[in-house]
Amino acid sequence: MSENQKKTIFSGVQPSGKLTLGNYLGAIRNFPILQQSYHCIYCVVDMHAITVRQEAAALRRATLEVLAQYIACGLDPEKSILFIQSHVPAHAELAWVLNCFTMFGEASRMTQFKDKSAKHADNINVGLFTYPVLMAADILLYQADLVPVGVDQSQHIEICRDIAGRFNGLYPGTFVMPEGYYPKAGEGAKINSLADPRMKMSKSDPNPGGCILLMDKPEDIMRKFKRAVTDSEASIVMDPVGKPGVSNLIQIYALATGKTIAEVENEFAGKGYGEFKPAVGEAVVELLRPIRERTEQLLASKDYLEQVYTQGAQKAAYLARKTLDKVYRKVGFVAR
Ligand code: TYM
Repeated sequence: MSENQKKTIFSGVQPSGKLTLGNYLGAIRNFPILQQSYHCIYCVVDMHAITVRQEAAALRRATLEVLAQYIACGLDPEKSILFIQSHVPAHAELAWVLNCFTMFGEASRMTQFKDKSAKHADNINVGLFTYPVLMAADILLYQADLVPVGVDQSQHIEICRDIAGRFNGLYPGTFVMPEGYYPKAGEGAKINSLADPRMKMSKSDPNPGGCILLMDKPEDIMRKFKRAVTDSEASIVMDPVGKPGVSNLIQIYALATGKTIAEVENEFAGKGYGEFKPAVGEAVVELLRPIRERTEQLLASKDYLEQVYTQGAQKAAYLARKTLDKVYRKVGFVAR
């Protein structure tokens, strides 16, 4: 495929804490695979992260850690554009314009806004409300065709499409209409908490035992898997409704080892949870070991990371400016 026939991919991850196995299996794992056949742009979305309170030094550290983890997970800064959102002012600038093309009612319907408002009742700020508009700006600025994300982001992708459609209706040909690119069910689309397997595994899980972090030490990973909530039946079969805990573990084991669900069920037929849970733990330890070690090395090379995010921002800013200029012209702003 020639360079200009290639489609464009955009995705982002918030540095709002430590990355989880859910972030990896649902999204980041797929990023390097895509960089072979697409123009890929991957962002660390620090501006989204401040919609909930962050400690400044911790946010700076987490931002560099996500960038290092992108590279440790296989992204190549020579092939993909890797950058930090706040380094490209066009994100905030386009978000303002798009705010004026987003209806209060449609933003009010976002379940993530409702969930986060409930969790942070003392800080229901306007940024939390317009979060999906900034996300739409991220995607539309780069004229992205595909957005690889976990299924928890599907409502945000839909509102992005609604905003793009409304804007294109008034000003035809402005934005490429993006599509969500989700893992299949059972292949990482949604990884659940080990402590409460009906809930998504999340950086903000109040029970730290439910959440595997990419930087967890092997002994912590093993302990969390051994304590994972299952059921009293002791049969290792996929049944997401009746046996959500075991099904979540089967999915994780299959992804970590590259086996199919049927192969995993066969491997553990007639065996108990006492054997299964540590096997899942060990598979995840081996999956994450190289990522953790490479991340640690990269975090020690601050100059290299700086070079990556500086060059990434330059390339991203060039592309973003083209779209922003077009939008400003269409809405009637006088050219600078
Ligand atoms: P964030 O930072 O919450 O999560 C990053 C990515 O990880 C996926 N993910 C999961 N997938 C499966 N199972 C889970 N338990 C799980 N937890 C998280 C998310 O779906 C996501 O793909 N709003 C976005 C960040 C963002 C963005 C963007 C994404 C900002 N602008 C533009 C794409 C395009 C978010 O909060 O992701």
